[in-house]
Amino acid sequence: MKHAEQGNWVARSLKSVWHPCTQMQHHESMPLIPVSHGRGAWLYDREGKRYLDAISSWWVNLFGHANPRINAALREQLDLLEHAMLAGFTHEPVVKLSEQLSALTGGVLGHAFYASDGASATEIALKMSFHYWRNSGQPDKREFVCLQGSYHGETVGALGVTDVALFRDAYGPLLRQAHVVASPDARAAREGETAQDVARRAAAAFESLLQDRAGRIAAIIVEPLVQCAGGMAMHDPLYLQLLRELCDRYRVHLIADEIAVGCGRTGSFFACEQAGIWPDFVCLSKGISGGYLPLSLVMTRDDIYAAFYDADIRRGFLHSHSYTGNPLACRAALATLEIFREDRVLERNRERGEHLDRALAPLAAHPKVRHLRRRGMIWAFDAVTEDPAFARRFFTAALRHELLLRPIGNTVYLMPPYVLDDEETALLAARTMQVFDEVTA
Ligand SMILES: Cc1ncc(COP(=O)(O)O)c(C=O)c1O
Repeated sequence: MKHAEQGNWVARSLKSVWHPCTQMQHHESMPLIPVSHGRGAWLYDREGKRYLDAISSWWVNLFGHANPRINAALREQLDLLEHAMLAGFTHEPVVKLSEQLSALTGGVLGHAFYASDGASATEIALKMSFHYWRNSGQPDKREFVCLQGSYHGETVGALGVTDVALFRDAYGPLLRQAHVVASPDARAAREGETAQDVARRAAAAFESLLQDRAGRIAAIIVEPLVQCAGGMAMHDPLYLQLLRELCDRYRVHLIADEIAVGCGRTGSFFACEQAGIWPDFVCLSKGISGGYLPLSLVMTRDDIYAAFYDADIRRGFLHSHSYTGNPLACRAALATLEIFREDRVLERNRERGEHLDRALAPLAAHPKVRHLRRRGMIWAFDAVTEDPAFARRFFTAALRHELLLRPIGNTVYLMPPYVLDDEETALLAARTMQVFDEVTA
């Protein structure tokens, strides 16, 4: 009975829903899982089978599914205010959230501008940077720089600063392509080089572009410490320090896209903290609402904000989305920040991380594994395989072993929610290795 019911939802979904980031024909051989509910790190399908959500449902879920504390906050908020427009109005959740996030930057990034998805935050940061220079009498600064393998979202503006061919190429004719400079990916280290050497080399490549074109460049956008969708490419924090110096010297904005790496994912609340720098803009989304509701925001410095503050409406930032600053999403974010404080999450993740590190250690010696790496709560390794269907085969095999894991190309990665207990950690490591052996045998 349950089996028939599950099949029915699959059939109806395939008939009516266009699923994201999917060649729909692949579902002829790849399973589609109808989720009935979630608890903690687990998702359950309609037959009662469970799956450990080891990638936090596309990197959004921090404190487990159906988290009782976030649920309670949302229930309370529902009875107060579900939504009100944010132009001409304000409300407690959005004010408190903006204040608390600014405090986390020591007040350096004083104002927050809200949207819903990550890509919208990217668009906002790009537009704000360009408009800042225009308001400051430098309208020619209208070009952007991104890194090789960068990913900043899939709207047309965000794709212009994205360097993942699979997502970008089909839309190439529509895009205003940014300058693409070398990535500081530590895997590019040559014989005898350290990750810092690679960082210096990449920064030097950016500097040569600046020497040529700084007068035309508005900003460089980076994913600090880990370029996630490009294949979990990790770099040394030195790179961010060098970028900060170069951006100051050549008068170019530094945009930190912390949509995936913010909210404790790399070990500090903001990834940039590990380099001891603050960018001019920080984009946040994904984990900020605990994985509950679409919420994104761009935080910026007061001097940038001040360049828009004027009697002339055209100097203002006339950007909006209907759900800008949605009270429910902001309330979920406040509950998320409260959990960070009350449960000393960053500290406890250090122990959790070490535990998973130890459990995954055997992979380092595996003949088919290259570049086993970790930054905070992100683990990754590259499979030695020529199989173009590796990622799909791995995903399917992982489901059989109760794991939700979705490799990017040949890169297998884990980005679990911050709630795994010892038993779940051991299970995750053991089964990841089992699935890997099965798929590469
Ligand atoms: C670094 C980064 N920027 C932007 C985005 C886009 O976010 P969204 O999918 O919410 O539009 C993502 C999504 O994976 C991301 O990883």
